[in-house]
Amino acid sequence: MAPESRSRCAGGHDEQRRVDRRAGAALRRGGRDVLRRGPRADRGGAGSPGRRGCGAVPLRAKGVPVAGIELSPPMVAQLRTKVSVEEIPVAIGDMATTRVEGAFSLVYLVYNTIGNLCTQEEQVECFRNAARHLVPGGRFVVEVGVPSLRRLPPGQAAVPFDVSDEHVGFDTYDVVTQEAVSHHLTRRPDGSYRRGTHHFRYVWPSELDLMARLAGMELESRGEDWRGTPFTASSGAHVSVWRVG
Ligand SMILES: C[S@@+](CC[C@H](N)C(=O)[O-])C[C@H]1O[C@@H](n2cnc3c(N)ncnc32)[C@H](O)[C@@H]1O
Repeated sequence: MAPESRSRCAGGHDEQRRVDRRAGAALRRGGRDVLRRGPRADRGGAGSPGRRGCGAVPLRAKGVPVAGIELSPPMVAQLRTKVSVEEIPVAIGDMATTRVEGAFSLVYLVYNTIGNLCTQEEQVECFRNAARHLVPGGRFVVEVGVPSLRRLPPGQAAVPFDVSDEHVGFDTYDVVTQEAVSHHLTRRPDGSYRRGTHHFRYVWPSELDLMARLAGMELESRGEDWRGTPFTASSGAHVSVWRVG
């Protein structure tokens, strides 16, 4: 699929500023840990660097070679205000299909990036593409939320996740296609509200395990965060690690 046709899924990153900081700190800790377990830590990691490269930049600063795949040229332009193409090479393209040079110990998608692929088929292809980039024994790490469908009673269309004076956020779900939309109403200093939307496909942990199997990977670990807190029925998110055979 051409990059433009995906912009509906990739656009609208209203919430990203807050979470990028969290993702960056987490990947700094967790990514290093996974790399330490990896067969060839010198092979480094590959991921979607985003506009600020909050995951990629700190990893690179710690001496880990990193390469990225990013759909949005403006995101890459912002990354370039921080790091050069020599420090973090980035291929502009779709993470489901784009190949970057090299073989890696770690491929990662932090903070719900997998959801930017809005069909199951694209998410499956993304797992296959991750596997293509890994050395034998290499790992694919995904951080993503658990769908909040247990909070969606029959007949109700929306689940609020933040209601405050400054921001109202709620998700709407299509339970047939698993497409969802995060809606954000953010208060401006003049008291008016800016509306933003972010389209994504929600995906179950077990569904991701099956995608991994299709790509020749097995689940190695799953925690509810980067500290390895056990994943339980009440976990709101997970950090999962699959290992290629
Ligand atoms: C949550 S951010 C990246 C994670 C985080 N900022 C980091 O530092 O690692 C998600 C990024 O994925 C990009 N993106 C969305 N759809 C994509 C696709 N199909 N292929 C590649 N990148 C995509 C977006 O443009 C955005 O920059």
